[in-house]
Amino acid sequence: MVDVGRHPNIELLTMSEVVAASGYIGNFEVLLRKHPRYITEECTFCGECLERCNVFTEDEFNVGRGLRKAIYVPFLQSVPRQYVIDDKACIYFSDQGCEKCVEDCKKHAIDLSQTIEEETVHVGTIIAATGIKPYDPTGLYGYGDARFPDVITSMELERMMSVEGPTQGHVFRPSTGKRPESIAFIQCAGSRSFKEGQLSYCSKLCCANTIKNALLLKEHFPDLEIYVFHNGIRTSGNRQERMFLEARKQGVIFVNAFPEIGEGHILSFSDPILGQEKLIEKSFDLVTLAVGLVPTAQEMSSALGVPLGKRGFIKEDNQLSPTATPTNGIYIAGAVGAPADIKQCIEQAGSASMQVAKHFQKDYAELSPVIARVDLDKCTGCGKCVKQCLFGAIRVEDKVASITQALCRGCGNCEDACEFDAISIANYTEEQMKAQLREALREPEDKIIVFACNWCSYAGADFAGTSRLQYGANTRIIKTMCSCRVSVDLITHAFALGAPKVIVSGCHPGDCHYLDNNMFTKKRVTRLKEKLERKGLNPDRLMLEWVSAAEGRRFAEMIHRMEELEVDESEVEMSKMIFSQTKKKKVKKKMPTKEGKGV
Ligand code: FES
Repeated sequence: MVDVGRHPNIELLTMSEVVAASGYIGNFEVLLRKHPRYITEECTFCGECLERCNVFTEDEFNVGRGLRKAIYVPFLQSVPRQYVIDDKACIYFSDQGCEKCVEDCKKHAIDLSQTIEEETVHVGTIIAATGIKPYDPTGLYGYGDARFPDVITSMELERMMSVEGPTQGHVFRPSTGKRPESIAFIQCAGSRSFKEGQLSYCSKLCCANTIKNALLLKEHFPDLEIYVFHNGIRTSGNRQERMFLEARKQGVIFVNAFPEIGEGHILSFSDPILGQEKLIEKSFDLVTLAVGLVPTAQEMSSALGVPLGKRGFIKEDNQLSPTATPTNGIYIAGAVGAPADIKQCIEQAGSASMQVAKHFQKDYAELSPVIARVDLDKCTGCGKCVKQCLFGAIRVEDKVASITQALCRGCGNCEDACEFDAISIANYTEEQMKAQLREALREPEDKIIVFACNWCSYAGADFAGTSRLQYGANTRIIKTMCSCRVSVDLITHAFALGAPKVIVSGCHPGDCHYLDNNMFTKKRVTRLKEKLERKGLNPDRLMLEWVSAAEGRRFAEMIHRMEELEVDESEVEMSKMIFSQTKKKKVKKKMPTKEGKGV
């Protein structure tokens, strides 16, 4: 961070938050809110003000285990090395009663009249790296209850063990101020649990952190008794596993059990591995809860307009681009995307920086030619496509839809939403897709039409081929970028042309390269299968199957299963008749009100 602060090409905007961002790659407009520091650049960091200030408040950096003044430096290595005045603690802001620091500052570097300011900056790309915060375990194992003062969190222990922490590196029992003789660590406190308010996921680094702390404590106090209660230790990789083995060698006892806590820090537990069926009761001087990590990405996600996953972390674009977001030009690094340790954060920061640097090498951005286009003569500005676009690439202006090309990913989901046939995807237009269908069904008798998405299923078909797996020569594969491009209209068109069987195939749920667009496919196919049934047709003639790029065998098996389905001629004739009579897409009545909009 110090290097970042000194770098001539990096402008560090501290005390600032991102309020909103708009635009697209190469052209983002970011609205910042800058909070007042109340200290001007004249400050020489002499420390007079700090001496003079008599107002104390809880020190958040030390997790409440210590006090700081209202004028303070957030932590020793903070960049820039400048004081800040906490306006919630400073009594000048509550009763205007104190200006001692202002009076004593010889450089006149304190300006209590500063206010929040907003500023807009223009940037070409964005990396979000806003981190994570520890889970609050209040109520768990008596934490936060005055009866259990010696139950602390891993963060509190961390600060205690730091030489720059509130106890200068000495570990004390908060109740007595004395060194503990025994410590219990309780892993997964509030995580890997489906109880309400708890975290369902593994925070990835708590096991390694506990082991690191246990080893440090053993180094200083070899006689210290350390128990680690866990729900399965998760130490991945060579280094962490070595630390785990070393901790065991040093006498740290690992017990696979969830203990209960009682008065006097007595933990009761049974150890299934040791075959102890009876509850064991053991008293500990200090209990440390290894708490999980909670995402803090909510505000950043709404400011940048990038989606959050179910667990509250910003969603990566797909597994092959873990630092990219669905918005071209916006990247993520570190725990904003998922719990990550320091090593992973560094790796991701490097990856995200390289992605950004790649854009700086040219003065233009390369976009995929596969994007949506709007036919102004057909668009009525109904806005249905806007709701369908998970990438925020469509807006309606002056009663016609308009595509921001740099945001469009060309998935094709909007195509199905448009009742007026006004949106088409370049290279995958309705005419092109239907022409492929016509060709594939020139002799429709026993054909199986497979719509396969580019990223998984089509690659799965390829893999089946290179693996020399046999499947019917009557299979006709039609590629789309995403399975969501397969509109109801396309499937019914295939039936109208006499296709006996149709398969729609895409990436497995969670693997779609266009967020969760394959869930639209699922809904669409389910609805259409119901319709087939209502019309007296066999719904099994339409199949939805998820096939990954590595599942060549699954692809071949899917075709075999479809081959086994018997479809008689009368059924095919009936579907031909029903679907060739299906109402065509609507036609716009009014002409657009303004020329030049919409593409
Ligand atoms: Fe394969 Fe969306 S990319 S289903």
